[in-house]
Amino acid sequence: MTASISDQLLAWYDVHARDLPWRVPPGNALPDDPAWPYRVWLSEVMLQQTTVAAVKPYFAKFTAVWPTVEALAAASDDDVMAAWAGLGYYSRARNLLKCARAVAERGGFPDTEAELRKLPGLGDYTAAAIAAIAFGRRAVVVDANVERVAARLFAIDEPLPAARKAIRAATDRITPDTRAGDFAQAMMDLGAHVCTSRAPRCLLCPLAGDCEGRKAGEPERLPVKPAKKPVPERRGAAFWITRNNGAEVWLVTRPGTGMLGGMRALPDDGWTARSDGSGEGPLAGAWRTLGAVRHGFTHASLTLQVDALETSTAPEGEGQWWPVERIGEAGLATLFAKAAQLALAED
Ligand code: ADE
Repeated sequence: MTASISDQLLAWYDVHARDLPWRVPPGNALPDDPAWPYRVWLSEVMLQQTTVAAVKPYFAKFTAVWPTVEALAAASDDDVMAAWAGLGYYSRARNLLKCARAVAERGGFPDTEAELRKLPGLGDYTAAAIAAIAFGRRAVVVDANVERVAARLFAIDEPLPAARKAIRAATDRITPDTRAGDFAQAMMDLGAHVCTSRAPRCLLCPLAGDCEGRKAGEPERLPVKPAKKPVPERRGAAFWITRNNGAEVWLVTRPGTGMLGGMRALPDDGWTARSDGSGEGPLAGAWRTLGAVRHGFTHASLTLQVDALETSTAPEGEGQWWPVERIGEAGLATLFAKAAQLALAED
């Protein structure tokens, strides 16, 4: 009898699993420690739309500063947003804190997918991943890597996103009752290193013999992606306002839940189009344009002009003078870190 797909994949994982700081080695018992679901949850939130390599240093920093969900729940919004700076998709950090506070309030993480799903800001994927990886429950865990593996294995050639229903059903069929966490992470590792997007390494794949996509030829064609919409170009200006001969710079905290909400930032003009670069800064004075930086968001590409002013007056509204020599500790999102770098290179 040939081994099932999950048996073959788990046997591969037993040898090839990546050693990651939020994992137990394959086949090991799950730690009986409340910090364990916290680490799994934190890693899963960080890994959404972000690579393992980018996440590792942030995971190390967060777990060193806030080793438990209670510690994170007690942290200030500013400290957490600043620690997240550079990881992107900042609504994740706002939701992280909301969720940490709800978990601390109820006395720990629930251990079922349905109860996890009720936590604020925690979606279907994360609930399934935590249920499987932290608590060993059978759950169908489908992220982009798993989606690719399943679409190829079963030659699902309906375009995304419509294909997701079939992909989920196929993943459900092959998910085992035991070792569900190892199975989910084995699918992820296979997708990340073997069943890669452009040039799948079918010769190394433990599932090659069962792969309908391979049999049909061109597995790299799957899953079929919808045509990409062009991202709109936006323009704006950021303001590098200094006092004391450039020793301190005026920083604001961006409002609420909008773009980069809750993050410390340079003041800006709201990125409404300014084709001639002649917009007004937030103070009257002898402004100098230093240049521009570009940044790609998922929904737009932004060209941000950087205008500088040395002054002794604080702009209106809330903000703070921040020592320029400690700008690296301000927790600026990458866009504003680029603008600051440009301003400092000009000095
Ligand atoms: N991507 C999302 N979750 C992951 C995990 N637990 N291991 C590796 N890659 C992942």
